[in-house]
Amino acid sequence: MAEDGAAYPAGGTPSGSLQPLELLHEEAGQPRFGLPPELATAYGGDLGFTPPCVYANFVTSIDGVVALGPEYPSSGSAISGREPADRFVMGLLRACADVVLIGAGTLRATPGHRWTPDHVCPQAAPDFAELRRSLRRATRPELVVVTASGDVPTEHEALQSGALIATTVDGARRLDGRLPPTCHILTADEGSTLRMADVLAALHAQGHTVVLTEGGPHLIGHLLGEGLLDELFLTTSPVLAGRADTSRPGLIAGLELLPNRPTWTDLISARRRDSYLFLRYRLRTPRAHGGPRPALAH
Ligand SMILES: NC(=O)c1ccc[n+]([C@@H]2O[C@H](COP(=O)([O-])OP(=O)(O)OC[C@H]3O[C@@H](n4cnc5c(N)ncnc54)[C@H](OP(=O)(O)O)[C@@H]3O)[C@@H](O)[C@H]2O)c1
Repeated sequence: MAEDGAAYPAGGTPSGSLQPLELLHEEAGQPRFGLPPELATAYGGDLGFTPPCVYANFVTSIDGVVALGPEYPSSGSAISGREPADRFVMGLLRACADVVLIGAGTLRATPGHRWTPDHVCPQAAPDFAELRRSLRRATRPELVVVTASGDVPTEHEALQSGALIATTVDGARRLDGRLPPTCHILTADEGSTLRMADVLAALHAQGHTVVLTEGGPHLIGHLLGEGLLDELFLTTSPVLAGRADTSRPGLIAGLELLPNRPTWTDLISARRRDSYLFLRYRLRTPRAHGGPRPALAH
């Protein structure tokens, strides 16, 4: 504990020290990893997942905006206001995962980012490392980027430090000879988009069964469309984003659910820090992942 009940000093952020999240509600009987004490204090309790599991983490404005549009890079940070508690939860969710899965749109829109726990909450790095050791996870989660086109910024820092790129035959052709040696490619047999069930099956075959997705809205649309999402962590940031004529998507793009395909959820937990809400939902639709054979090849 750092000082005055704060679990971590927030290091230069306007909000001062990070106070523990206040637990408002939690369903009984949740899986528990046994978080190191500092993490459990900051999170307001324990956390865990039962593999195989795919969970998403998003921050949204009160009016349902998750991305400000292509002219604004790193719009998630603008929506969260770089709130230390949100960055802590982001880091914690990454620290629990075998892989962090994103779409190429998020990679293109977030220059300079690395999808590691430490990047968003460096002050908790030793405790994230201890958690990963206790879970027998690799030092950091593997980054997996999904792209149909193969149009990825190969100079991006996140790719330079190593990633798996899941793509189509055309995408692999476009990427041929352009990726840093730290990256590997998984190529689909056929098709202009990837079946996400095949991507997950390929990850499972490599022993990666706890998958965090940080989106964006199109990738979430694909995962939901195939019935592959188990849980959603949603931070509601106390800000209004507004919309004019530009596209400002909500959580899901490229897929309509209501009215014909209602997708209900159950609230697993609710936490609060100041005016931020940290909500964890379980999708009620049956789990559909774990296909019989990986249809993607190295
Ligand atoms: N608020 C938040 O928490 C949050 C979280 C994440 C992202 N964002 C924001 O969301 C915006 C990006 O949105 P987005 O919807 O474009 O992001 P995205 O879902 O990450 O990227 C979409 C792209 O991913 C690839 N892709 C997704 N599913 C695929 C599939 N099944 N098969 C093949 N390729 C697939 C395609 O890449 P190609 O075009 O290369 O074929 C597609 O154009 C950014 O502004 C980002 O900052 C916000």
